[in-house]
Amino acid sequence: MLKYLSLIIVSILATTPIFADSKLGLGRTALPSEITAWDVDILPDGRGLPVGNGDAIVGEETFANKCASCHGDFAEGVGNWPALAGGFDTLADEDPVKTVGSYWPYLSTLWDYINRSMPFGGAQTLTSDEVYSIVAYILYSNDLIEDDFVLNEKNFQEFNMYNSNGFIIDDRKISEYPIWSKEPCMENCKKSTSITKRASIIDVTPEETSTEVEIKQSALSPVEKDTASIDPKLINAGKKVFKKCKACHAVGEGAKNKSGPQLYEIIGRKMGTANRYKYSKGFKVAAEEGRIWTEELMVEFLRKPKKFIKGTKMSFGGLKKDKDLNAIVAYLKTQDN
Ligand code: HEC
Ligand code: HEC
Repeated sequence: MLKYLSLIIVSILATTPIFADSKLGLGRTALPSEITAWDVDILPDGRGLPVGNGDAIVGEETFANKCASCHGDFAEGVGNWPALAGGFDTLADEDPVKTVGSYWPYLSTLWDYINRSMPFGGAQTLTSDEVYSIVAYILYSNDLIEDDFVLNEKNFQEFNMYNSNGFIIDDRKISEYPIWSKEPCMENCKKSTSITKRASIIDVTPEETSTEVEIKQSALSPVEKDTASIDPKLINAGKKVFKKCKACHAVGEGAKNKSGPQLYEIIGRKMGTANRYKYSKGFKVAAEEGRIWTEELMVEFLRKPKKFIKGTKMSFGGLKKDKDLNAIVAYLKTQDN
C-alpha cells in the first residue's frame, strides 16, 4: 500500500497535477494501471484470475522453498502455524480441524489469499504461475488432483471443494425478521389458563410437618372411617399378608417412605401423593387426575399392579386369592400394628 501511496505523492510533486477534486484542489484521478495493480480480487467463479498455469510437481518445490518452513513439507503445518491440508470429516466434531481442504468452500479464496498475503512477511512477491503451481500443490496435498494436473485460469472452476455446500446464505432478513419484528402482545394475551402441574407433585412445596400432612389428608378423605365394624380376625389375617409388603412399605402413624411410599391411611388417600416420594410416571398421572384409593381400586391394583398402573416401579407380582385381598384391604384400613 505504501509503495503506491508514495508513488502518487511523488508524481503529484514532480508533475503538473491533474486535480480530481476541483473543490478542494487535492489529488488526481487514478491511472488505469494503478487501479489494475489494486484490483486483484478473485471471485468464486474465477473472474479476476490472470492468465497462467502450474502443476503440483513445480508447486512442491516452490512450496518447499517459500512456505514449508511454516506450513510443513506436506502442508500439514509446523508447530502452531496453520495446516493447509487434512481434517476431512471433522467439521461436525467437538474440536474440528479447519483447513483449506476441509473447510474452505471456494478455491478462488485460496488463490487470492496466497497471491495477496503469502509468504508471510513477503506478500505479493509471487508470480501468477508460482501461485497457480502452489495452489495445485495444496490441492494435491488434499487429494483433490493428481500431481501432474496443470491448473490454469480456465479449468479453475471445475474444482468442487469438500466443503463447498457447507455454507448457507443468511436469509434471516426474510425468514426470521418478520416474525420477531411484529408488535408484541402486552395485555390479555392468553385466552384461557389451565393447570398443567401441581407444586406438590413436582416436589417444590416446602416440606410440611407430618401432623399437618395428616390433617390435610384426612380432611381430603371422602371415605367414612368405619373401622370399628371390621372383623378383628380379618385384620389379623391382613397383618400376615402385609409381611409380603413390609420390605418396601411402612404403615401406621408417622410411617416413613422406604423403597415404596408410606401407606398411612392409604384407603381414601389420593393416589401417588406420599410426601417427598418419587413416583413413576403412571402414579404421577393418577395423582394429577386426583384419583383416590377406594377399597375396590386397591383390590384391583393389588391383584395385578402392573396392569392397573402401566409402568409402575412396584416390583410385586400381585395377590391371587380373594381371601388375601380382602384381608389386606381390611388391614390397610385400620393399620393396627
Ligand atoms: C513465516 C511463516 C509463514 C510462511 C513462510 C508462510 N506462511 Fe502462510 N500463514 C502463516 C500464518 C501466521 C498464517 C495465519 C495468518 C492469519 O491467520 O492471519 C498463514 C496462513 C496461510 C493460509 C490460510 C490458512 C487458513 O486456514 O487460514 C494459507 C492458504 C497460506 N498461509 C499459504 C501460504 C503459502 C502458499 C506460503 C508460501 C508461498 C505461505 N503461506 C508461507 C505463516 C506463514
Ligand atoms: C419390592 C418392593 C414392593 C413390594 C413388595 C410392594 N410394593 Fe407397593 N409399591 C412399591 C413401589 C416402588 C411403589 C411406587 C410405585 C410407583 O411409583 O410406580 C409402590 C406403590 C404402592 C402403592 C401406591 C401408593 C400411593 O401412594 O398411591 C400401594 C397402595 C402399594 N404399593 C401397596 C402395596 C401392598 C399392599 C403390597 C403388598 C401386598 C406392596 N405394595 C408390595 C414397592 C413395593
